[in-house]
Order: sequence, then C-alpha cells, then structure tokens
Amino acid sequence: MKLLKKGAEGDIFLTRYENVLAILKTRKKKQYRNQILDNKIRKSRTVRESTILSEVKKFGVRTPLVYQVNHNDCTILMQHIKGNVVRDLTGNKLISACKGIGKITGTLHKNGIMHGDLTTSNFILSNGKIYTIDFGLSQRTTRIEDHAVDLRLFKEILNSAHVSMMKSLWSSFLKGYRSAIGYNRYNQILNHVSVIEGRGRYAQVV
Ligand SMILES: Nc1ncnc2c1ncn2[C@@H]1O[C@H](COP(=O)(O)OP(=O)(O)O)[C@@H](O)[C@H]1O
Ligand SMILES: [Mg+2]
Repeated sequence: MKLLKKGAEGDIFLTRYENVLAILKTRKKKQYRNQILDNKIRKSRTVRESTILSEVKKFGVRTPLVYQVNHNDCTILMQHIKGNVVRDLTGNKLISACKGIGKITGTLHKNGIMHGDLTTSNFILSNGKIYTIDFGLSQRTTRIEDHAVDLRLFKEILNSAHVSMMKSLWSSFLKGYRSAIGYNRYNQILNHVSVIEGRGRYAQVV
C-alpha cells in the first residue's frame, strides 16, 4: 500500500482490489475529541460518503465504485480514478472543467444533495469525463441557503487556488450550474449567494 495523501481527517492509500488499482480512504481517530463522539463522527461520515457515492450515480453523476466499506475501522475501499484533479489543470481545460463542475453541482442540487466540500481537488478529470469524490460532508437538503453555501465555498476556492483566472472560471461554473438547475432556481440561489457575501462584508466592518 502506498500513501498518496496525508489529510487532516485521514489518509488516502493507493492499493489493489482483485488485481486492479484501488483507493483506500481512512478516517483517523482524533485524540483530542471525546472517543464516543469521535467514533460517531467518523462512522457517520464514512456511511454518508459511501452511500452518496453510490446513490448519485443514478442522476448521472460519475463517482468511483465503492468496493468495500468497513464501519468499524471507518474505511472505504473504492475504484481508483486515473487522471488529474481539476486543481492541477490549466488554461482552457480548467475553464471547461469548471463548467462541468457547475453542471454536476446543479444536478446534485436538483436531486436534493449538497456536496459540502466543493473544491477543485474533489473532481478528477479522467478520459475527458469528470468524476466527483469526497462526499463525507454532503447532506440531503433542498434549502436554498444550503445550496448557496456550496456555491459560495466554490467561489472562495477559485479566489484562493485559481485567482488569476477567477472571473472566467466562476462564469464558466455558473453557466454549467444554470444549465442543470434551470433559470428560476438559478436566480434564487445566486441572490442568496449575494446575501451571504453581504453578511461577510458586514461581519468584516463590525
Ligand atoms: N477514487 C479516487 N481515485 C483517484 N484519486 C483519488 C480518489 N479518491 C481520492 N483521491 C485523491 O486523494 C485526494 C484526497 O481524497 P479525498 O477523498 O478528497 O479526501 P480529503 O478528505 O483528504 O480531501 C484527492 O484530492 C485525490 O487526489
Ligand atoms: Mg478532498
């Protein structure tokens, strides 16, 4: 097993499952958290992630296949998606990937799911198709506020990880999002993003 990424929440390993490459996602115990609470959090995120990874496939959102879930160790063994995370793309590829992420986000929202961690590291471009990963913070919700929070986070990420192309990436994302969610809902959510941003400014002044 090869360590691919050491994360705050857990580690990601490259391994094998029945002779094909696979990813093992682990969630580490946090010593500073109450043990009972910690187990509950790790378990619920593991269950949530594995369930939603499988569920969204029926809306046409591409995700890795889940091979095994271990509820005691809080690990998920899943298909390895060969490709690049969108964060590592540049130029036109990055612009068009953001449109794809917008479309995926709109499809998730239309079906009552918020991703909860919309960053360009949580999408993998593989053979021209975008795969979505990292559903540990996702939620079933149709609330405008929750969907707007997803968009606001993505905008913030563009501002920090891709600042030189921020404007074109954001407008590309919105194009994709609108095409999936429809004009009316799009306007409602975007209005709410402005409300959140207004709150932000207010918070800064005070
Ligand atoms: N199924 C997968 N196929 C290929 N790479 C993956 C897969 N799952 C995770 N990764 C890689 O590991 C990184 C971290 O995984 P992720 O599920 O996003 O965990 P974290 O909660 O640490 O962000 C991803 O950004 C990606 O580079
Ligand atoms: Mg991630």
